[in-house]
Amino acid sequence: MKIAFVASEVVPFAKTGGLADVSGSLPPVISNLGNDVKVFMPKYFSIDSKKYDLKENKLVGVFPVTINGFEYLGKVFKGFLPDTDVEVYFIDQPYFFHRSQLYTNDLDEDARFVFFQKAVLITIQRLGWKPDIIHCNDWQTGLIPLYIKDNFSWDKLFEKTATVFTIHNIGYQGRFAKSALFSAEIDGKHFYPAGPAEYFDDVNFLKAALWYSDMINTVSEKYAEELLTEEYGSGMQDTLTSRKDDFVGILNGVDYEDWSPEKDKLIPQKYTPSTLENKAVNKKALCEKFELKDDPEIPVIGIVSRLATQKGFDLIEKAMNDLIKLNCQLVVLGSGEIEYEEMFTEFAEKHPEKIAIWIGYNIELSHLIEAGSDMFLMPSHYEPCGLNQIYSLRYGTVPIVRETGGLADTVINWNDSKSTGTGFSFSEYTPEAMMEAIRNAINLFTQKEKWKKIQENGMKLNFSWTESAKKYIELYQKAKNKRNL
Ligand code: ADP
Ligand code: GLC
Repeated sequence: MKIAFVASEVVPFAKTGGLADVSGSLPPVISNLGNDVKVFMPKYFSIDSKKYDLKENKLVGVFPVTINGFEYLGKVFKGFLPDTDVEVYFIDQPYFFHRSQLYTNDLDEDARFVFFQKAVLITIQRLGWKPDIIHCNDWQTGLIPLYIKDNFSWDKLFEKTATVFTIHNIGYQGRFAKSALFSAEIDGKHFYPAGPAEYFDDVNFLKAALWYSDMINTVSEKYAEELLTEEYGSGMQDTLTSRKDDFVGILNGVDYEDWSPEKDKLIPQKYTPSTLENKAVNKKALCEKFELKDDPEIPVIGIVSRLATQKGFDLIEKAMNDLIKLNCQLVVLGSGEIEYEEMFTEFAEKHPEKIAIWIGYNIELSHLIEAGSDMFLMPSHYEPCGLNQIYSLRYGTVPIVRETGGLADTVINWNDSKSTGTGFSFSEYTPEAMMEAIRNAINLFTQKEKWKKIQENGMKLNFSWTESAKKYIELYQKAKNKRNL
């Protein structure tokens, strides 16, 4: 099959979260299964063309895209996902993509990603390449299924092209004022109360995708179930329920070339399940970096996260005074909502021997925290998949998670009598329930044999892409069949 994989962030070129990990690691696996995959993403200011040897694509050339009556010129640069032959097409438009962040609150945020989506389709046309599937990811690509069935349907090239839409996070929908209808050139027939592109009188890019893509998935089975409920559906539950037969959960895989302690180039000391004692070297380095005491009897709990309420930081905030009384140290890497940045900073200033925070984005440090911590905390309110708990399992860093979405699908609560389980989980979204799970973890940590067992249980698991990639191929096939009925 020919597959266009479209995403707003892709590792190693640009990343704010797990979408980038998925977009950098799934396409090569799909390609290795005998498919022709091309990736499409914006060419952000932060992407270093020299480093990645990106070349302007003369075949595509310069093309105009009209938005709100103005013409913007686009170009395309071509590169490859590192160490693969998967082509990546970077949509270049300096006015839209040379900004300080990947995503902004600027007034033309809608126009930025309208430009991107139209430019992707124009690039495909100019390449004369007929994809069987356009695989769209999150709201930044949500209009493509509508465009294929309407604005671009005149072009026979797309006659048989089916669309698949992956929901990585329902919390971000690309919801804009009605004026976005004009910038996006969405025909009025798609905009009526409770209609395809309408949500409470606003334009909603994600909702349009849920109406018009041939197949839909999200990134874990549990989250797929949750999304059909009012509690988790963020207003999309009815739309998704109406598409229930075309909607599945496929758990994300991870790239163990980047994320395993035996291969990790970014950590001071590599280790394997049989040399687990070497993990202590990483703990020492982590504690030194953060001026914490390196003590085998004091567990270090790591956090690497966007500091967003989604991730359960309101629970942590409420539990903080109790948490600092426990025999543990907390290392936090993250950035995001100012409230949480300030909260951790204050606690770290008052209790430097207990808590350390590094505000910002730091890939090397994220690896050191995975390798050097004893436990990893992810008490998310909701979690479509979550990757850090999966990385943690491989690093022998025992995850403490709330039982929701992908966290529930990947972490098994410790059973003391059977010595089974890979982490600690709790279900009620309360600070008390979270604290109980943390206390249980700290308690097990004092029992060295059992602790080793829980680490080994997790390290043995395999969440590589192999199985999930096959499920994507099945999904593509179903989409293709539906489109060509
Ligand atoms: P989400 O996509 O919702 O943020 P995931 O768990 O799927 O959550 O993925 C988060 C990814 O982003 C992981 O690869 C994690 O290591 C990385 N990450 C998050 N915050 C930071 C940070 N401050 N510095 C470096 N990496 C980070
Ligand atoms: C989202 C989700 C996260 C998921 C990632 C990749 O950002 O919040 O749970 O792992 O996408 O699918």
